[in-house]
Amino acid sequence: MAKLGHEVVAVDVDHERIAVLAAGRAPFFEPGLPELLTESLATGRLSFTTEIQDVAGADVHFICVGTPQLEAEFAADMRFVDAAFEDLMPHLRPGSVVAGKSTVPVGTAERLAARLGEAAPGATLVWNPEFLREGFAVKDTLHPSRMVYGVPEGDDGARAIAILDEVYAATLADGTPLVVTDYATAQLVKVAANSFLATKISFINAMAELCEVTGADVKALADAIGHDDRIGRKFLNAGLGFGGGCLPKDIRAFMARAGELGADQTLTFLREVDSINTRRRVRMVTLAREELDGSLDDKRIAVLGASFKPNSDDVRDSPALDVASQLQLQGAVVTVTDPHALANAKAKNPLLTYVARTEEAVADADLVMLLTEWDEYVALDPRKLAGIVSGRRILDGRNALDRAKWRDAGWSYRALGRH
Ligand code: UDX
Repeated sequence: MAKLGHEVVAVDVDHERIAVLAAGRAPFFEPGLPELLTESLATGRLSFTTEIQDVAGADVHFICVGTPQLEAEFAADMRFVDAAFEDLMPHLRPGSVVAGKSTVPVGTAERLAARLGEAAPGATLVWNPEFLREGFAVKDTLHPSRMVYGVPEGDDGARAIAILDEVYAATLADGTPLVVTDYATAQLVKVAANSFLATKISFINAMAELCEVTGADVKALADAIGHDDRIGRKFLNAGLGFGGGCLPKDIRAFMARAGELGADQTLTFLREVDSINTRRRVRMVTLAREELDGSLDDKRIAVLGASFKPNSDDVRDSPALDVASQLQLQGAVVTVTDPHALANAKAKNPLLTYVARTEEAVADADLVMLLTEWDEYVALDPRKLAGIVSGRRILDGRNALDRAKWRDAGWSYRALGRH
C-alpha cells in the first residue's frame, strides 16, 4: 500500500514482530519483501505500531489477521478476526471503511457488518479477499490476477466502492479485472478458488495413483491433458501434494461451514480431496521402505526441503516435514536440510536432525529424498553427489528432477506416479 503511494500504519499485537519490521527487516522469508520494506520505510509513508489508537486517523482499515484451523475441529478459529475488529471499532468514525482481507467462513462479513452498525454507525464494511501466493507475495499484491469487492447495497456500498477504487487506482489502471459483488459471494470466492486449486492437485495425484498401478507416467499425462486450455497445465504437478497455511485448512473450514449451513452433502468431495492428499505422504514413506529393502530401521535418509513449497520458509502443514517425521518415527535416521526453513522446522519439530548444507545432509545417506523442489535441489549434480552417499538411491517427491540424468549417473530413481 505504501508502494502504491498511500500513507500506511501497520498495527499488530506482536511486539517483537513490529520491532523487527520497524527496523526494516522482514520477519519471514519472502522474495522481494526486504527490498520493498526498505524502499517504503525510506519514503516515510510506512510506520509500524502496537498501539491501535495510532490508526484512528485512517480512512480505510484492512483486517489481515489469520484464520487458522481450530485445534480439534475442521472449522476456522475466528478469535483473531473478532479481536482485531473489536479493538478497531472505538477508533472508527462515520465514513470509515473497514476492508476484510482474512479468509473467513461465509456469513462472517454479514455478522461483522451488523456489529459495525451497532458500535460504529456510519462506518462501512467491505469484503476484499486476498489471493497472494507465498513466494510471489510482492508480485501478486502489486499485480493481482483480479480484485473482488464485496459491498452492501445502496449509498454506503457506492461510497465504499469509490474509496477502494482510489486505494487501488494504480492497480486498476494496470487493467486488473475487478468483480464487485455482495458479501456472501466475495467471501465464497476465496474458499472456492482455494478448493478448486486443491481439487486440481488431488485430481492429478489420484491419476498418479492409477499411473503407479498401470505403469503409466503422470507427468506425460499432465502435459497431455494440460494442452487442452479448458484444463490447463498449471497446478497439475503430481507429487507429495499440497500443504501450507491455506489450502488444507481452507478446504476443511469450507466443509465445516457447509455443514453448519445445512449443505453438508455439497462439499463431501473435498473430504476425498483431503484424503488423496494425505495418502501421497503415506505412499512416499512406503516407497522409501521399498527402496531400502523393506526396512527403515537405522537407515540413513537425507531429506531435501522442509518448507511446504519452494521460496517460502513456511512449514505449516508441510508435506516434507510430515514425511521426514514419519520416517524417523518408523526407525530411520533422518537428516533434513532446507535453504531457508530450518529455524521454523526446528521450532515445529525439534526431534529431527537439521543441517544447513546439502552435502552434509546427503553424506553417507542410504537414500536421498527430494521433498520440496527448491531450485538448488533441482540443479544438483547426481555425479557429484554419487561420491558422497552410501547408496545411490533418490526418491523425487515432486517430480522435479531430470530422471534420465540421475539414472545415467548410476542412481536408482523413483518418483510418485512415474516409473
Ligand atoms: C494458496 C493459493 O494459491 C493462493 O491464491 C491463496 O491466496 C493462498 O493459498 P500458497 O499457500 O502460497 O497459496 O501456495 P500454492 O502455491 O497454492 O501451493 C500450495 C501447495 O500445493 C504447496 O504445498 C505446493 O507444493 C502444492 N502444489 C502446487 C502441488 O502439489 N502441485 C501443484 O501443481 C501446485
